[in-house]
Amino acid sequence: MRNTTKEIAGVLLLTCLLVACSNPGNSPAAVKAGSAGQPWWKEAVVYQLYPRSFQDSDGDGVGDLKGITQRLDYLQSLGIDAIWMNPICASPNDDNGYDISDYKAIMKEMGTMADFDEMLAGMKKRNIRLIMDLVLNHSSDEHEWFLGAKSSRTHPFRNYYHWWPAEKGTPPRRYSLFDENADAWKFDSTTNSYYLHYFSRKQPDLNWENPALRKEMYDIMQFWLEKGVSGFRLDAFPFMAKDTSWPAMPADFTNEQFIRYYGADPKVHDYLREMNEQVLSKYGEIYTVGEGGVIPFSKVMDFVDERRKEINTLYHDELANAWGRDSFDVGPYRVGRNNVLGIKQIITKWDDKFREKGWSTLFLTNHDQARAVSKFGNDLPAWRTLSAQMLHTFLFTQRITPYLYNGDEIGMTNIRFKDIRQYNDLQARNQYNLALRESKAKADEYLRYQQELGRDNSRTPIQWNSSVNAGFTTGKPWLPVNENYTSLNVALQETDSSSVLHYIRRMIRLRKTYKDVLVYGTYTPADAVNPDVFAYIREGDGKKILVLLNFRDHDVQVNPGVEYNKAQKLIGNYTTDVAPGILRPYEAALFLL
Ligand code: GLC
Repeated sequence: MRNTTKEIAGVLLLTCLLVACSNPGNSPAAVKAGSAGQPWWKEAVVYQLYPRSFQDSDGDGVGDLKGITQRLDYLQSLGIDAIWMNPICASPNDDNGYDISDYKAIMKEMGTMADFDEMLAGMKKRNIRLIMDLVLNHSSDEHEWFLGAKSSRTHPFRNYYHWWPAEKGTPPRRYSLFDENADAWKFDSTTNSYYLHYFSRKQPDLNWENPALRKEMYDIMQFWLEKGVSGFRLDAFPFMAKDTSWPAMPADFTNEQFIRYYGADPKVHDYLREMNEQVLSKYGEIYTVGEGGVIPFSKVMDFVDERRKEINTLYHDELANAWGRDSFDVGPYRVGRNNVLGIKQIITKWDDKFREKGWSTLFLTNHDQARAVSKFGNDLPAWRTLSAQMLHTFLFTQRITPYLYNGDEIGMTNIRFKDIRQYNDLQARNQYNLALRESKAKADEYLRYQQELGRDNSRTPIQWNSSVNAGFTTGKPWLPVNENYTSLNVALQETDSSSVLHYIRRMIRLRKTYKDVLVYGTYTPADAVNPDVFAYIREGDGKKILVLLNFRDHDVQVNPGVEYNKAQKLIGNYTTDVAPGILRPYEAALFLL
């Protein structure tokens, strides 16, 4: 069970983003360009916005587009450049919008197309670009394509999906990430056939081998680009391409190996190149970010090398999976949150990969991961602020495009539901039931895992103020608000200059001021053997910045091998100075050497 869960966590990371739209009707002139010769998205700070939980404007308990529009000044105040928004298209919400029933309509809880246009115009006015979430691998089973496809074997939409006729017997086993039986084939009696669903039964996989389906998807992309979005986050894209001869899995096949057998079939490159040629390349500097958690490290450049004309960036989930509470055995490195050496190893390995070409991204939290401060830092009231500030100092000083997840700018924490009935996430519910069939002990173990690492932890409503439901809604929130909202919210932090919110604004400004160093400069580890501190030097444009990060809740020693006592301190999460060579609990500091 634990291994299965681990794989799932690996798959479910990731995401994001976008494009400078140059279509005449939607001039990109309103949004800033990148540095000379560099695409804008390399130096952008991207904010991931989970719309269900951001701001409800009509009291139905679900966040909506008008709510986002009301908060645009706040978003601008953060200093962000782009927003990757999780799905907002029409959906029965089996998987919170990742099951789309109409790719060109807005989900009814979220509002109307007019609300979308107003929101996008408001973003453009504030120099904020929008990156849409593009769900490529599957639609909803309520999409008209699937309704047609399942009605008859000869329906024109039949081959938009993958079918196995029952007269051929039982289909070769395929593992499903979300299915209660972990079985990716579902029998449908109308046509006496099985259909494929790598995710839930309500998310049938689309057949990318069919040129008619591909054309539909490109048309959808064009629809949103014409509206003026600046890019796409490609959801679960490595699964689009499959070996449709459906070879039987080897006898010793285990669920954990499924990626090796049916993730990122080589045809995925053909699809991405075609998408680029037929759509993306026609709209100027459009940005794409693929959910790349399942892409093997050795294959990453095959997607993002500029010369291949596929996608711009991927996000990986090694860091997110590597960090976990000590008592939980998660991620390939099994490093736990105290293994700073493991963290350094991952960061250095990925930085090396992009030394010469390509570009990468990094996130601490996303909608498929628990909250950063609970997972990587320390969410006890005594350490929450300092550790959240330290972690974001880390994020904003890496040579990548950083993704800031909504709520992390105030250090929101895990909700840690105790009872499975509190969970909304279908993955958590189905995996729990699967575990329960083995034993109650397994199910309890899964629940403990979910409390720390489950997806609902990062999906609770944004805590805006101390009023009822934290100012998120006047109705009943679709997912409970974290009880700590009366002491942890945006309004309180606005009035406190030492808050996480103020610090993150300063940190983003600093990244931009020193972009030659902090965005584009080289990264060199310092004090590499130190098991408590992550230290490194960023260097560019003749300047050097030393970054010191203490991952411990106690004083530690640091020896970065450079003199920094007299150097200018650019930012830090403590206001007073301390003896050289010592860092206080969760201390973070940047020095201009
Ligand atoms: C991606 C999304 C995740 C979703 C899954 C199925 O992994 O990030 O939230 O459940 O795809 O679409």
